[in-house]
Amino acid sequence: MDSKQLIDIQTHEVDLTLNNSTPENDINKNITKPKTKKSKVKKILFRIFSTIGVLILLYIILNVICMLYEKHKIKSYNYGTTLNVNGHKMNIKTVGESNKPTIVFLTGYIVPSPVIYYKPLTELLSKTYKVITIEPFGYGLSDTVDDVRTIEKIVPELHSCIEQLNLTNYYLMAHSLGGIYSLYYANQYPNEVIGVIGFDTTVPKINGNDEKMRNSLINASKKYYWFNFFGLNRMMSIFNKSNIIVPLPVKVYNYSDEDISIFRNLELAKGSNKNIMDEAVQSVHGLDIIDNMKYPKNMTLIHFDSSKYTKSIPNYEQLHIDVGSESISNEVIVLKGSHGEFLFKHNDVIVSKLNDFIKK
Ligand SMILES: *[C@@H]1O[C@H](CO)[C@@H](O)[C@H](O)[C@H]1NC(C)=O
Ligand SMILES: *[C@@H]1O[C@H](CO)[C@@H](O)[C@H](O)[C@H]1NC(C)=O
Ligand SMILES: *[C@@H]1O[C@H](CO)[C@@H](O)[C@H](O)[C@H]1NC(C)=O
Ligand SMILES: *[C@@H]1O[C@H](CO)[C@@H](O)[C@H](O)[C@H]1NC(C)=O
Ligand SMILES: *[C@@H]1O[C@H](CO)[C@@H](O)[C@H](O)[C@H]1NC(C)=O
Repeated sequence: MDSKQLIDIQTHEVDLTLNNSTPENDINKNITKPKTKKSKVKKILFRIFSTIGVLILLYIILNVICMLYEKHKIKSYNYGTTLNVNGHKMNIKTVGESNKPTIVFLTGYIVPSPVIYYKPLTELLSKTYKVITIEPFGYGLSDTVDDVRTIEKIVPELHSCIEQLNLTNYYLMAHSLGGIYSLYYANQYPNEVIGVIGFDTTVPKINGNDEKMRNSLINASKKYYWFNFFGLNRMMSIFNKSNIIVPLPVKVYNYSDEDISIFRNLELAKGSNKNIMDEAVQSVHGLDIIDNMKYPKNMTLIHFDSSKYTKSIPNYEQLHIDVGSESISNEVIVLKGSHGEFLFKHNDVIVSKLNDFIKK
């Protein structure tokens, strides 16, 4: 049989089935006529399900279009300076360029754009100090890499930036999970770090032996991932661009509309990328690594703790005293407010405390 014949037969078959179908349908119609109630219900159900189907399809199409737009849009963003770390782009932002000494800022976990989020603090300090915010891999405008996000990998990457800038004596400043990196960093490079300034830093033994708490970042990151995956984060912020799961503290600082938009697009396009997800998984290992660490002897330390965490986490202040118990000095100050906002609400106290601290 040659191919022409095959095609002929196939088309005939198609014709046959088409011809057959018409009378069959007619018969069916005749038979079902008496059962009108049942068929009405069926029709209504069919309409409901097909409407839902169409809506879901539209929802998916809308989200895919928005996602493509966001992914395209973030390529045009360009704040800060790009450095080459292990063959990948790492973004940093320097403010107060001509000032001395230098403060290197280490972000808290999951912040989609550390440079934008911490602006209220870094701009305030830039009047007196040179402040460098590093966006680690997976954050802000830095690349996302194919590598585990363990503390042992992350800290040398951060240091690589500092090395390229030829910095030798500087302060580290950290918020939240940035505290485990500042502690490890200070112990790895004690001849470079003069002192450390912490804002609600994650310190050794912070979760006791509580497995639930140790895994809390993993749970939070998973929730965030699925919220982003199903487009819910996008939908809830369609009319209010600040209404995202990891929000900017818009109540305590007037971010520009552009910053709000950049922050949202970065969060939606890459907020829950594989580096961020893996960092949560590796944070349990990171806590083990620093469990018995303290800051080196010849460093000066200052810790600002939020009233919210001081009240809700057992021994919170004491743990911040303990981590600096071997160092030259270590002041622990409690400021009113929540973990994500308290560092932007007490400018006068922070500036005057740092003026004293850095003179020492
Ligand atoms: C750092 O020092 C090297 C070698 O002295 C120099 O080539 C480079 O331009 C310096 N980088 C910066 C950012 O100053
Ligand atoms: C701190 O001690 C280390 C050695 O442990 C030394 O290399 C470094 O210069 C000291 N730093 C300061 C600021 O004195
Ligand atoms: C995190 O998730 C695990 C397993 O799903 C659960 O057992 C644990 O209680 C959760 N922890 C918190 C802090 O919610
Ligand atoms: C937008 O959302 C943020 C975060 O939920 C909220 O603080 C702010 O008040 C909202 N703005 C408006 C105009 O509703
Ligand atoms: C933000 O700007 C508004 C209007 O200009 C002003 O009323 C408000 O106090 C500002 N908020 C902050 C935190 O600066």
